[in-house]
Amino acid sequence: MASAFSLHFPFSFPSSSSHPSFPKLPLNPSIVTLSATSSRFRHVHHSRRSRIPAASIAVDSPSTSKSDGIENSPKPLLEVKDLTAVIAESKRKILHGINLVIYEGEVHAVMGKNGSGKSTFSKVLAGHPDYEVTGGSVVFKGENLLDMDPEERSHAGLFMSFQAPVEIPGVSNIDFLRMSYNARRTKQGLKELGPIEFYGFLSPKLAAVNIDTSFLDRNVNEGFSGGEKKRNEILQLAVLEADMAILDEIDSGLDVDALQDVAKAVNSLSTPKNSVLMITHYRRLLDFIKPKYVHIMEDGRIIKTGDVSLAKQLEKEGYKAVSAV
Ligand SMILES: Nc1ncnc2c1ncn2[C@@H]1O[C@H](COP(=O)(O)OP(=O)(O)O)[C@@H](O)[C@H]1O
Ligand SMILES: [Mg+2]
Repeated sequence: MASAFSLHFPFSFPSSSSHPSFPKLPLNPSIVTLSATSSRFRHVHHSRRSRIPAASIAVDSPSTSKSDGIENSPKPLLEVKDLTAVIAESKRKILHGINLVIYEGEVHAVMGKNGSGKSTFSKVLAGHPDYEVTGGSVVFKGENLLDMDPEERSHAGLFMSFQAPVEIPGVSNIDFLRMSYNARRTKQGLKELGPIEFYGFLSPKLAAVNIDTSFLDRNVNEGFSGGEKKRNEILQLAVLEADMAILDEIDSGLDVDALQDVAKAVNSLSTPKNSVLMITHYRRLLDFIKPKYVHIMEDGRIIKTGDVSLAKQLEKEGYKAVSAV
């Protein structure tokens, strides 16, 4: 059984190894980390390719931007239906039937008390081996996400920023970014970019996320402050040009200035085609990245969906006011 530490270690080699042998680089440190053990956690029980009609998915206040058959209308990016999952080792049930649909261009926030299953949900979406899906379905861009290993999920355009970004000693940020980017290009049948070409591609992104070029030569996340780590994650997101970003507590440990910086970086990447699922238990993040929907999670379920006013009610009256019980 892989230890928690090794799961957060980014490359496909044992955590006891002192030097990365630089294998085929992953797309995102988090995803990569997971892919090391991916063969163990392919969800064989959910391998059938399925398409879920969005309308059949029960969300309290469903999106108003449903596809109406017109070519240019927003399409669902992520469709989660009755998703249940257990902790792989203990079989303890954590997710008790999650229903959620996210359309292109939408920003959603999931809020909830500590221990309500928010991180578990995001990690299950990323394909984390600590969890086993026991029921339901997840469709991403029309494909069965549960049938993909973590690296494939990343290639498909899903980006996951974990609560605690990994450090990668001995690997410079720019090398990491270039290899991640090239891994995706190779997958798409495109030619890899050399260092100079890549720098040309990267420069405007650095400006967008407000990261100084001096960061590029530093080892990935090593010695970075909390805010710098989070901004670096957003830089990875910018480079990978993911369709869907799942941001688990990107506000944790940040002061208001750093939070504003990170939020600005996230907002700068927003297009009508991509979506964000942000997970937080503080409303202040929603002041900076404005969600269309706010979902409240309790005991592994989404018990309520609304707009930002729900988050405001939560802040004023506490979780009891919005609780299912
Ligand atoms: N890998 C794991 N091993 C054991 N327990 C876990 C693991 N992951 C989550 N849990 C448990 O599942 C519950 C939900 O956790 P989590 O998803 O991290 O909640 P949240 O992110 O909402 O605070 C908690 O009781 C937590 O202790
Ligand atoms: Mg969490």
